Amino acid sequence: QKIILVAGARPNFVKIAPLWRAFSAIKGVEVTLVHTGQHYDDAMSKVFFEDLGLPEPEYNLNVGSGSQAGQTADIMTRFDQVLDEMMPHDVIVVGDVNSTLACSLVSVKRGIRTSHVEAGLRSFDRSMPEEINRLATDAISDLLFVSEPSGIENLKREGVADEKVHFVGNVMIDSLVFASEAIKESDVLSRFLLESYKYVLVTIHRPSNVDHPPRLRELINWLKELSSKMPVVFPVHPRTRNRLVEAGLDPAQIKQQFPNLKLVSPQGYIDFQKLVSQARLVITDSGGLQEETTWLGVPCVTLRENTERPVTIEQGTNYLAGFDFAKADDVVNACLAGKSPKGRVPDLWDGHAAQRIVDVLLRKHKARNV
Ligand code: UD1
Repeated sequence: QKIILVAGARPNFVKIAPLWRAFSAIKGVEVTLVHTGQHYDDAMSKVFFEDLGLPEPEYNLNVGSGSQAGQTADIMTRFDQVLDEMMPHDVIVVGDVNSTLACSLVSVKRGIRTSHVEAGLRSFDRSMPEEINRLATDAISDLLFVSEPSGIENLKREGVADEKVHFVGNVMIDSLVFASEAIKESDVLSRFLLESYKYVLVTIHRPSNVDHPPRLRELINWLKELSSKMPVVFPVHPRTRNRLVEAGLDPAQIKQQFPNLKLVSPQGYIDFQKLVSQARLVITDSGGLQEETTWLGVPCVTLRENTERPVTIEQGTNYLAGFDFAKADDVVNACLAGKSPKGRVPDLWDGHAAQRIVDVLLRKHKARNV
């Protein structure tokens, strides 16, 4: 059985690593990694392969950055050629980035069984490219692997047949469980002169937060103020770095004037998760980080109007602050004062999601070949 695993952007690498391990362990399964090249900086890609124990991908489509349409189209054309060569039985896509949609579209149209891992999540905000990617990928994929209860409900409401939907848990948490020892051993805190539970970790990269210069300036001013209360460490995504410079906010200058606001380069998986696990509080607009903080029990303030991962609010430690810094301040100040929200780990976020996916796919494969 030939299986292609597709990954393009940073969060994808974290999701395919446990799948790669689980499929590689099965005799008779040939698993091929395809990297679309959507993320290409070493700090956004190579270090993740190393940290997660992934081999070099067999194919790198090297698409690079571009417009939504240009990037998606390039991935489609190049992935089509890979399918010509490989003729796999299965294609597996993960998450909600442009690579997810592009590859599922090509694969489904060729009649190849296509699985979407992390299916059914909905922010109900169609201004996000990720929401369009999620809706479209789920509408066409053959098998839908779901990480939280809202995913099942959403797919049901959209009329998806029950037999396509499998609640398997969260592969991102599989990676956290797998790397937990290495994460403990990371010395990143001492490198940034930070002490456990005495700093705030920030990551911001969504267009809604960084693409409008007045909004970005307001955000940086807020972080400057916060850094007077507790050190802030902010690994800066390349997109955010570009937008800071365009808005006349020179990262080097900010660092010099506000030494407690530590703008650092993007971190690898192990070091970054160490920073998450030891933070007093995380402030983010990322999707995956809302889940990782929930699993770790670290308070998280999400600077977005909505989340496609409601379980992190209902059961976890996530708080949705919208674009309202006053609202965010209430939670931030409570956390700094030692009053942190308590949460629980959602069902099946136990480190075995990839194995459940393997079990379902092998069962289907056997049934087809009987
Ligand atoms: C993409 C995903 C987003 C995910 C994020 C994680 C889509 C639509 N968006 O957003 O869902 O949360 O990845 O990081 O797929 N850049 C570099 N080097 C890189 C990658 C990007 O310099 O290795 C810069 C380029 O200027 C590029 C910009 O970042 O134009 C944005 O990259 P892109 O892949 O288009 O989207 P992200 O914002 O990274």
